[in-house]
Amino acid sequence: MFKALLVEKDDAGYRASVKDIADAQLPEVAEGAVTVRIDYSTINYKDGLAITGKSPVVRKFPLVAGIDFAGVVETSHHAAWSPGDKVVLNGWGVGESHSGGLAQRARVKGDWLVALPDGLSTRQAMAIGTAGYTAMLSVLALEGHGLTPASGDVLVTGANGGVGSVAIALLSRLGYRVVASTGRPEAADALKQLGAAEVIARDELSAPGKPLAKERWAGVVDAVGSHTLANACAATKLRGAVAACGLAQGMDFPASVAPFILRGITLYGIDSVMAPLALRRRAWERLARDLDAAKLEAMTREIGLADAVAAGSDILAGKVAGRLVVNVNA
Ligand SMILES: NC(=O)c1ccc[n+]([C@@H]2O[C@H](COP(=O)([O-])OP(=O)(O)OC[C@H]3O[C@@H](n4cnc5c(N)ncnc54)[C@H](OP(=O)(O)O)[C@@H]3O)[C@@H](O)[C@H]2O)c1
Repeated sequence: MFKALLVEKDDAGYRASVKDIADAQLPEVAEGAVTVRIDYSTINYKDGLAITGKSPVVRKFPLVAGIDFAGVVETSHHAAWSPGDKVVLNGWGVGESHSGGLAQRARVKGDWLVALPDGLSTRQAMAIGTAGYTAMLSVLALEGHGLTPASGDVLVTGANGGVGSVAIALLSRLGYRVVASTGRPEAADALKQLGAAEVIARDELSAPGKPLAKERWAGVVDAVGSHTLANACAATKLRGAVAACGLAQGMDFPASVAPFILRGITLYGIDSVMAPLALRRRAWERLARDLDAAKLEAMTREIGLADAVAAGSDILAGKVAGRLVVNVNA
């Protein structure tokens, strides 16, 4: 038996709770399957949606929640993995259609796993979590575009969130001047400690705006979507780039083509769930190298599995700052 945060939906309604699960309830042992003893998972925005049922993230019931985990291989039917290997997993439908990571044990395809990079502990990997890995994918997209610190200011929206906090820490360490947009002005000092050079109010970007605005951003990491993303594009400099990775304000994109056809800006879509393995490995290697461990720790709070249900509601309510790491064995 092992403990897991189980999401159920039946005549009694939609609910999430910590339960004791029999090993027999894990996905069946098939060729390529790897069973992992999990050390840590985390609460990402999507976990909040899955735990509360606010969006249809979970596709089959009952299902163990949790879109990511870090732990140690227990048994392997995959040539690449052996017992004792330290691994990290993000996405691939885990916690959506496949049994998830908010549990003491998981069985997944070995093809989905990434080796924990040297220099990161399993706790640090989940302090980073899918939010931080997505921030790194966004930075990689901007770098791939040719952005350098000399290009100009980089805007990070949803600054106090998981993606935003890690993006700020990464970009500032890489030498960029980061402008952080937040709806929590009281957190301005903490954002500056993380590396933001300037903090602006969320309201400056969240209302309907003009098709083109004064050129301000060389690059953007946007975790918010909707009018914020549209306004970020409208104020992106000639040939600049925007990485769209989130929808905290909304899934809509009420924009015009003006920034694309008059300023040649590029909008990169960031998908962490189905990202190819080579890109994942690159992102995790870069996180191990470029993320300041002290800043990561400063933005992280540890909770136990029993606290994860409440944390799922809290993250959707905007009450969580930085990252929540879940010690599944606490
Ligand atoms: N593309 C992918 O593969 C991928 C992967 C991971 C996450 N995501 C998405 O990225 C987003 C952020 O994820 P996360 O885990 O970092 O969540 P999070 O920790 O809850 O961060 C979201 C942040 O957005 C801001 N925000 C919340 N509601 C808002 C609103 N109505 N209008 C404007 N800003 C608002 C808040 O920052 P302030 O308080 O500072 O304003 C909040 O902290 C989510 O939409 C998530 O689904 C996508």
